Amino acid sequence: MRTKLLAGNWKMNKRISELAPFFDAFATEAGIDRDPGLVKKVEVLFAVPYPLLAQATQLAKKHGIHIAAQNVHWEASGAFTGEVSFGMLQELGINATLIGHSERRQYFGETDETVAKKVKAALAAGFTPIACVGETLAERDSGKTESVVTRQVTSILGAASPDPGRLVIAYEPVWAIGTGRSATSAQAQEVHALIRRLVREQLSPAAGDRMRLLYGGSATPQNIDELLAQGDIDGGLVGGASLKPADFAKMVRSGLAR
Ligand code: 13P
Repeated sequence: MRTKLLAGNWKMNKRISELAPFFDAFATEAGIDRDPGLVKKVEVLFAVPYPLLAQATQLAKKHGIHIAAQNVHWEASGAFTGEVSFGMLQELGINATLIGHSERRQYFGETDETVAKKVKAALAAGFTPIACVGETLAERDSGKTESVVTRQVTSILGAASPDPGRLVIAYEPVWAIGTGRSATSAQAQEVHALIRRLVREQLSPAAGDRMRLLYGGSATPQNIDELLAQGDIDGGLVGGASLKPADFAKMVRSGLAR
């Protein structure tokens, strides 16, 4: 049994002053206050901007919630202006990070190659990498979804071989991100099944059984139940809806019900 993971990606949103009220409201709405064991049955994580990491880690600890970075550099130190290393994150008590989000690929020049370097370094540092893949609308419309996702996942698995540790792969179709147009549960399941097959073939059947695969792209309290009902979807990577404590709490409750 794979424990469900509901991960919020705050992107470039929220300030330090909003953290305490947010986590208090979220913990109450999700029922973590009444049942602290809940976060063992469904894992909850927020990927927050760098300046919020230290305080978020302190505040989230008392609720059993995990905090992750949204990006990281693969080198340990050096002349890389504007970058942050795994060691720096570790000092803050962080051991998880998003890698290769489509916005990083689209706007900041990340490629399969940089994503692979980061995944490799993350596993070496004992981190949980949440590596993101997904096709654009043009790629889907021209029938290239399978080949694009296969290329991206193969590159990630090559970097994670032979032991993927706690690697998580998030399938986020670019056309579904922030558009209000989620993939249907059938579309999402089809790609998740492909990814799991690739993990089984390229790493091992055991890794395929164990690895958690998340869906992201306009996931909401309204569609999360149907998505989580799919056999290969183990949770969500949630943007907009994770900024609202009540909405994200509802999604966590959906994960708990599975
Ligand atoms: P939305 O949920 O806002 O579509 O964003 C998805 C996403 O990019 C999460 O990483």
